[in-house]
Amino acid sequence: MNVALSPDPAAPEGQAPDPAAAQRAALLADALAGLSAPRKTLPSKWLYDAEGARLFEAITRLPEYYPTRTEVRILTESGPDIARAVGPGAAVVEFGPGDGAKAVQLLRLLDAPAAYLPVDIAPEWLDTAAARVAEALPALRVQPVVADFSQPFDLADRAAGSRVHLGFFPGSTIGNFEAEEAVSFLRRARATLRPGARMLLGADLVKSVPVLQAAYDDAAGVTAAFNLNLLTRLNREAGADFDLGGFTHRAAWNPDLERIEMHLVSRRAQTVQLAGRAFQFAEGESIHTENSHKYRPERLRALAEAAGWRAGASWTDPDRLFSVWLLDS
Ligand code: TRP
Repeated sequence: MNVALSPDPAAPEGQAPDPAAAQRAALLADALAGLSAPRKTLPSKWLYDAEGARLFEAITRLPEYYPTRTEVRILTESGPDIARAVGPGAAVVEFGPGDGAKAVQLLRLLDAPAAYLPVDIAPEWLDTAAARVAEALPALRVQPVVADFSQPFDLADRAAGSRVHLGFFPGSTIGNFEAEEAVSFLRRARATLRPGARMLLGADLVKSVPVLQAAYDDAAGVTAAFNLNLLTRLNREAGADFDLGGFTHRAAWNPDLERIEMHLVSRRAQTVQLAGRAFQFAEGESIHTENSHKYRPERLRALAEAAGWRAGASWTDPDRLFSVWLLDS
């Protein structure tokens, strides 16, 4: 659905645009569209405001949330093998570096990495990641790239020197994309990187439902707080009047699509006001906020191939919870 927005009130003619106001306008447009859909939805990118980023960081340290620590373990235990497969002199291009901690781990295990190029739309994240890497590896060339990697973009570095590019997309972020989005992301990454580039990709694996369920609905309620924070944000930044006590977090395994689906479920019939419009919720009706796809190796391989890559070596942990893949172009 298309939502007509009135002209950005924070950017009157002749004045510099206000990025925070532009963000709020985009959030409002997404919320109006998502809440008007027959099955209500909100884009998951809005989960990550300052409080959301803090809560997600807390999720990665929960006993039930295995992906982060398992990926770190794979990079540690298979580090020498990964370094051998990648070879010397790689320039690492990371899509969405977060705080740069995983980059530091990768760059330390690689043989004489040539450069680190973090790519993100948010300059704050880039500065944090670049500073962390520069501090850990002072001799390394660090070259942040401000770009929205959900769109095609140019890497100036593509034409320079003779370094081989290693794309880096850790975590289970690929799983947050729909299958078609995952393929287009991987295809775009391949077009952005230097010909002959490779890509190190994290992918969460299909496993027992209780383990998955616990990872996305922890006993301490941190994941619930993370999901509900989206409503707090809509109240604060879009002027909505969500009653926080009127919604609960639900994480459900979808066996057909092999993904965990995150929802905010209305506890009762209620009406929520947003930008002068009323949105009705039936009891039990939900807002779908996020998907986290889990892969079987053959599916991951097919996904990579559909995007023009070839899935090469892969590494996993003894319990086969998580996997790290080296894609060849
Ligand atoms: N990339 C993370 C994942 O899929 C994101 C995530 C973890 C998440 N827990 C969540 C997103 C709960 C929404 C709600 O594992």
